[in-house]
Amino acid sequence: MRVRLLGTAAGGGVPQWNCACGVCRRARAHQGDIQPRTQDSLALTGADGASWAIVNCSPDIRAQLVSSPELAPSDGTRRVPITDVLFTDAELDHVGGLLQLREATSLRLHATASILGALCDDLGLGRALASYTDVTWTEVVPGRQSSVCDGAVLVEALPLGSKRPRYAVEGAAGNDWVVGYRFAEHAGARSVLYAPCFGCWSEALAVAAEASAGIVVDGTFWSDEELAWTNRSPHRARQMGHLPISGQEGSLERIRSLPADRRIYTHLNNTNPVLDPASPQRAQVARAGIEVAADGLELDL
Ligand code: MLT
Ligand code: MN
Ligand code: ZN
Repeated sequence: MRVRLLGTAAGGGVPQWNCACGVCRRARAHQGDIQPRTQDSLALTGADGASWAIVNCSPDIRAQLVSSPELAPSDGTRRVPITDVLFTDAELDHVGGLLQLREATSLRLHATASILGALCDDLGLGRALASYTDVTWTEVVPGRQSSVCDGAVLVEALPLGSKRPRYAVEGAAGNDWVVGYRFAEHAGARSVLYAPCFGCWSEALAVAAEASAGIVVDGTFWSDEELAWTNRSPHRARQMGHLPISGQEGSLERIRSLPADRRIYTHLNNTNPVLDPASPQRAQVARAGIEVAADGLELDL
């Protein structure tokens, strides 16, 4: 199985268009010390590389696809190797690019019942897309196995929380608003876990992470108070549904002892000091053998 990180930033990207914090200014200057990053999305394919699935469709999807030769249309056609699009949640940074895929000849979309409701009922994306292309929606049920990439890759969703996007806070509560995905070519094969959003290190997450050869997980914030320091925002990381990296209860303490070959932080917010390769926080993550994702990073399992 081959995995390519198309985008690795949290909502807004790095630099964020309306932000002039130190990190965003340095990323905007393109001097190489802080790498620009687009909003998170992942692409994967089985051993034959014939069909690809993408997870999350950010507002940056067009630029991400145009810069990925593997995902280009075959000569003289409009046929692309992307067969499936999955969603980890209904946040705008993960669904905001969907309308840009309207030129597709067909789209197979996978989402849990709550996410599907938000996309179709709150955002009206189902009806809008159906006017342009042939859309199939498949309901994802956490814990039930299904397949993507024309059957080449097995996938299982794990429930990671009930946090609803701001535009859907009035919607029904449910434990399928946020999920992660574990992908493998066949039962018992080496697997990769993609979980860019979670507010706590649950038992289900611990079990999946322990059993995966590659993990690509929520590295949004370094600390719970980070937004207050940098944006004067009242929100704490955990309130926003993101377990911070640092601290006794943080994700670093959980991830440092996992057996996976590749352990990668993604969905990096522009306030996170690990974006600076020269920061002590980045050094701390690196000492634990954990990578900080960058756009285009690949895993070969
Ligand atoms: C999040 O990751 O918490 C959301 O994407 C936040 C947002 O975009 O408003
Ligand atoms: Mn986000
Ligand atoms: Zn910034």
